[in-house]
Amino acid sequence: MRSPLLFSVSLSLLPYLVDGSPTHRGGPLTWRDIRHLVTFGDSYTYVQGTRGHVNSTFIGDLQNLAFTPEQLLTDYIVQNQTGTAEGGPNWVEYLTGCGLKPGHTLPRTCDLQLWDFAFGGSDVSEEFEPLHHPYTVSYVNQVKQYIDYGHDKISYHGNREFLDSTLVAVWIGINDSGDSGKYNVSFPAWYANLTSTIFDSLSDMYALGYTQYMVLTLPPMNRRPGLWNSSDPVPSALQIEEWDTALNNSAKNFAAQHEKAEVRVYDAGAFLSGLLDEPDKYGFKITTDFCQAYDQPDIDTNYASYGCLPLWEYFWYNSGHMTTHVHKLLAADIKSFLQKPTLYGS
Ligand SMILES: *[C@@H]1O[C@H](CO)[C@@H](O)[C@H](O)[C@H]1NC(C)=O
Ligand SMILES: *[C@@H]1O[C@H](CO)[C@@H](O)[C@H](O)[C@H]1NC(C)=O
Ligand SMILES: *[C@@H]1O[C@H](CO)[C@@H](O)[C@H](O)[C@H]1NC(C)=O
Ligand SMILES: *[C@@H]1O[C@H](CO)[C@@H](O)[C@H](O)[C@H]1NC(C)=O
Ligand SMILES: *[C@@H]1O[C@H](CO)[C@@H](O)[C@H](O)[C@H]1NC(C)=O
Ligand SMILES: *[C@@H]1O[C@H](CO)[C@@H](O)[C@H](O)[C@H]1NC(C)=O
Ligand SMILES: *[C@@H]1O[C@H](CO)[C@@H](O)[C@H](O)[C@H]1NC(C)=O
Repeated sequence: MRSPLLFSVSLSLLPYLVDGSPTHRGGPLTWRDIRHLVTFGDSYTYVQGTRGHVNSTFIGDLQNLAFTPEQLLTDYIVQNQTGTAEGGPNWVEYLTGCGLKPGHTLPRTCDLQLWDFAFGGSDVSEEFEPLHHPYTVSYVNQVKQYIDYGHDKISYHGNREFLDSTLVAVWIGINDSGDSGKYNVSFPAWYANLTSTIFDSLSDMYALGYTQYMVLTLPPMNRRPGLWNSSDPVPSALQIEEWDTALNNSAKNFAAQHEKAEVRVYDAGAFLSGLLDEPDKYGFKITTDFCQAYDQPDIDTNYASYGCLPLWEYFWYNSGHMTTHVHKLLAADIKSFLQKPTLYGS
């Protein structure tokens, strides 16, 4: 549920009310103006759709990028153990509340609609790394898929009020930083190229009238189970910092080149590292390992028979993904980040 008015925000941020719904009039969107989240990324962000590729996406795959408006509007977000890569709701579901309840949800029925084109196992583009599977939709192809088949229907033909109340959120690079970590390249230059490619796709969104963007920095991939005590993790802490530096620079460049763009960089890496640094404070008992039986159908009730604690008490769900508990905390922090207009923008 979203409160209709927040009196604590300064008057200059209060939007006008038209028919009871806030209308955004220029400047950065803050949390209460946001009615739709359009999102791109990888397994950290994807949600299972009834018309999606199993364990991968909300709709379609590389061989089936096209869909009709009717197919789109009858595609349900699935919330169950295999509906995300974390065994439960992920950050975009906690953030929007859309698809959070067990079972099936149509995005259009949500107060805050979630339109999720993320695909599990995605890298930015095949220009840089090979696809994980022949059916993987890279980030650049996700944006293309949205523009070619989703945008018109989802935005009510580019309706201004829709565009002005939509946040475009991107979390990508998690697989890129792992996949390319062993390449013999200059990482600052390589990441500058990769991250500017992220924003090239957002320029295509901008051309359609989207102005509100949020990109996330990398999670602490170097602290995953099996890597946290390695002397040579891939990606390394340095590579992660180099990626984030490149992402920040690309975000600033994009904002400078697109007059009406409002670009926020949310420092997911800093927040998640904070959880790992002080696990007790947040109720995590194990941060260096995961429950090997994480995907057993009865794991939620029968964890002890597998020699595990409740999954809620782990930071890591498996070797590459964080638990739904982490995603819930992350979404809450992003929500408070979005209360403030913190950005590189006009
Ligand atoms: C989907 O993921 C679940 C849980 O990891 C796994 O058991 C199942 O085999 C996967 N299905 C496919 C078709 O890959
Ligand atoms: C989750 O729901 C999907 C779609 O209804 C179904 O294919 C899948 O088997 C379900 N997974 C579990 C673990 O129940
Ligand atoms: C990247 O994607 C694959 C799916 O192809 C996944 O199994 C893997 O864990 C991901 N890598 C990381 C670092 O999360
Ligand atoms: C960026 O990457 C592309 C694709 O690999 C390559 O063709 C191009 O030369 C790179 N540019 C720079 C500046 O590294
Ligand atoms: C890495 O690339 C540099 C510059 O292109 C080259 O001099 C060096 O031999 C390469 N190292 C390896 C291990 O391939
Ligand atoms: C890292 O810790 C794990 C236990 O979590 C242990 O099995 C492994 O040997 C350790 N590796 C190193 C390099 O210390
Ligand atoms: C990138 O930007 C975020 C948000 O402003 C900031 O918290 C972070 O420290 C920056 N990262 C690097 C490596 O510059």
